[in-house]
Amino acid sequence: MLLLGSAFVAATALPAAAAEPADERPQEGDFLVGTDGPPTPLGPNDISAPQVIAWPMDPVTKTIRDGSRLNKVLLIRLDPATLEQPTQGRAADGVVGYSAICPHAGCEVTGWQADQLMLECPCHNSRYNPREAAAIVDGPTMRALASLPLKIVDGKLVVAKPFIGRLGVVSS
Ligand code: FES
Repeated sequence: MLLLGSAFVAATALPAAAAEPADERPQEGDFLVGTDGPPTPLGPNDISAPQVIAWPMDPVTKTIRDGSRLNKVLLIRLDPATLEQPTQGRAADGVVGYSAICPHAGCEVTGWQADQLMLECPCHNSRYNPREAAAIVDGPTMRALASLPLKIVDGKLVVAKPFIGRLGVVSS
């Protein structure tokens, strides 16, 4: 009985297992690297397509945080003068970062409506305004994309703060 009690105490006293670095959410100071090709830290001039999907990378260990698809970051470069607050304060040289995962059903937000400057999810056409904290424009989504504040360090895009807003799919 005593043994069982001791074992119970020992088991509950163990610290919670630390998350693997690759599973951790983007951390302040992380670089951003493309999901294809070599893991070279991206700079503002690398964000040339309508949007680029990237992973965060630990600047010291070079661990790419690709253990969870919720860590995928959507980067898009816009005219800084067109950004509303609080997006303007979260942008770096016009580049804004958002979760790449649509809260409606988890697709990647890879579409871009050039005429209206809106992000569009290809699965069910939810649209988000990248100049205004990825606010919902229309479609079935129930939540804006989480924002990832950025800064520039030595010419590279770096995570300034953790994600603002909830990640993942809105459960019904
Ligand atoms: S998963 Fe994006 S609109 Fe449905």
